[in-house]
Amino acid sequence: MCGIVGYVGNRNAYDILIKGLHRLEYRGYDSAGVALVSPSGKLNVYKSRGKVSNLEDYCKDKDTTGGTGIAHTRWATHGEPSDRNAHPHFSEDEEIALVHNGTIENYKVLKDALIQNGCKFQSETDTEVLVQLIEYIRTHNDCSLLDAVKEALKQVVGAYAIAVIEKNNPDTIIAARKSSPLVIGIGEGEMFLASDATPIVEYTKDVVYVKDNEIAVVSKTEPLKLINLNNEETKVDVKTLQLSISQLEKGGYPHFMLKEIFEQPSTLRDCIRGRVTEEGKKIIISGVLDSKEKFLNAKRIIIVACGTSWHASLIGKYLIQDMCRIPVEVEYASEFRYSNPVLDDRDVVIAVSQSGETADTLAAIQMAHEAGAYVYGISNVVGSSIPRNTDSGTYIHVGPEIGVASTKAFTGQVMVLTLLAMAIAELKGSMPKEELDKIGEEILKIPEYVKQTLELNDQIERLSLIFTYAHNFLYLGRGYSYPVALEGALKLKEISYIHAEGYPAAEMKHGPIALIDAEMPTVIIAPNDHLYEKIVNNVQQVKARHGSVIAIVSEGDKEIKNIADHVIEVPDVPECLTPIITSVPLQLLSYYIAINKGKDVDMPRNLAKSVTVE
Ligand code: G6P
Repeated sequence: MCGIVGYVGNRNAYDILIKGLHRLEYRGYDSAGVALVSPSGKLNVYKSRGKVSNLEDYCKDKDTTGGTGIAHTRWATHGEPSDRNAHPHFSEDEEIALVHNGTIENYKVLKDALIQNGCKFQSETDTEVLVQLIEYIRTHNDCSLLDAVKEALKQVVGAYAIAVIEKNNPDTIIAARKSSPLVIGIGEGEMFLASDATPIVEYTKDVVYVKDNEIAVVSKTEPLKLINLNNEETKVDVKTLQLSISQLEKGGYPHFMLKEIFEQPSTLRDCIRGRVTEEGKKIIISGVLDSKEKFLNAKRIIIVACGTSWHASLIGKYLIQDMCRIPVEVEYASEFRYSNPVLDDRDVVIAVSQSGETADTLAAIQMAHEAGAYVYGISNVVGSSIPRNTDSGTYIHVGPEIGVASTKAFTGQVMVLTLLAMAIAELKGSMPKEELDKIGEEILKIPEYVKQTLELNDQIERLSLIFTYAHNFLYLGRGYSYPVALEGALKLKEISYIHAEGYPAAEMKHGPIALIDAEMPTVIIAPNDHLYEKIVNNVQQVKARHGSVIAIVSEGDKEIKNIADHVIEVPDVPECLTPIITSVPLQLLSYYIAINKGKDVDMPRNLAKSVTVE
């Protein structure tokens, strides 16, 4: 979703900003823009619909000099994607320019008031209201930009990360945050700001994560200053980035998505490292021992998440229920927050989020806190909002995920949820120790099993050619394989734009079976588990209606091999670990189908990697 970059220093800001925008492309956007204060004191704003490369083309013959600037990738919310609605937005007098990530909920009221006071608007965005309001306050109160931003933000309802520059004060950017991410990088005689650390990491490892309701004075000449809306200085807490440039590059792969699929043996190894002892006999997962009583006394666990993370969470439900015998509910964060949930201090809420910034998940966490529940976070991005707003939690440690379609984060989330369930089960004594030890031993082999699964790449690529032009797909699974079916269908939809539906295999009889014919492929996830015989029946039911079946089975499978049209054999692992293995061929299948169709797999249309607005 929208991305912000800012630079103030002695280098050419434009180059840094454009590079930064490219780094943020993965978040998803539909237009881009840049504002620069030129050495001659002009404030130049250039913007363009479409890719950052369009903006670069547009800027070729423009004045892009200057050491201070802000830039933006926009994911449209208020107003269509267009040059006019793209950020930065100018104030009417063109004295200040602003970029914004988030939504201003009361923009209509503010806009009407400003129009009554004579302001003229250029765009349909909520953002322009903010820049006009700041400038109105600055000029009418004859105050500094910092004071004007502070006063304007007191009137704003909504979520924002903003950066504002001023023609007549070229060495400073004023930035602020509430519910949308903002990171500041501190260099020598220069500072950077961005929605995440990816545009900053090649210049400095010293960063400050701006907190809600903080305003930052980002200057070339002065140390970073943070104040709150009451004008009180707040602490500047400098952290060291644990991120490297190579993690942000494709490393020889044609797409980030393929790179990330193939990284899974090593990301899972990183995810397990230090958490499972050599023999698999001890599981150590941060936050669980410290909050032992909370988990042991939980009357219920509620997992809140969105998208792929919700699918991982559904697997988490099966795991925790099976291993810990604690009732678990899994909720879409966006539904949960408006469902008037019944919550109290005996509930444990687990928030699962790759980015750690999903607005709905953050809102769900806040509700849980207000109701007195204990909140545990599972996320990937170190320093993001969810880990900072939970009582305890852990990271999945799979490294930056750039492909919009989540792959390695999904398997990392499932792995962490498995380890979490095992750790609680051990504390609770809800599962025989020998059984836990056996799973622990197998977990240590998972990276190798995933590596073996990836050797099926060529087979899956060939298979994808047969199904590239299908209009619909059905994905079926039971038990642990049901969320895998949902995730497989989501992956295909997201990047190939083929309609795909994931369904519990037995529920097929209550609807989707009507769709089955020779034209519609059905992907059936049928590893060696306690529901195997049941799913054999479901395969028969599809075949009896001349459906074409692609089955994911365990090595050594006997029955489905003889009935399905196409079989992908993956390593045979304990039932609770099957999702990590069976999801991998589905990732590859979606990838190759999308590639065959010529789609942009890393940046699928309309999608955003980090959904920072409701
Ligand atoms: C977006 C992304 C998905 C992701 C979902 C939840 O829709 O495109 O890949 O699963 O948001 O994001 P989170 O960062 O909270 O896991």
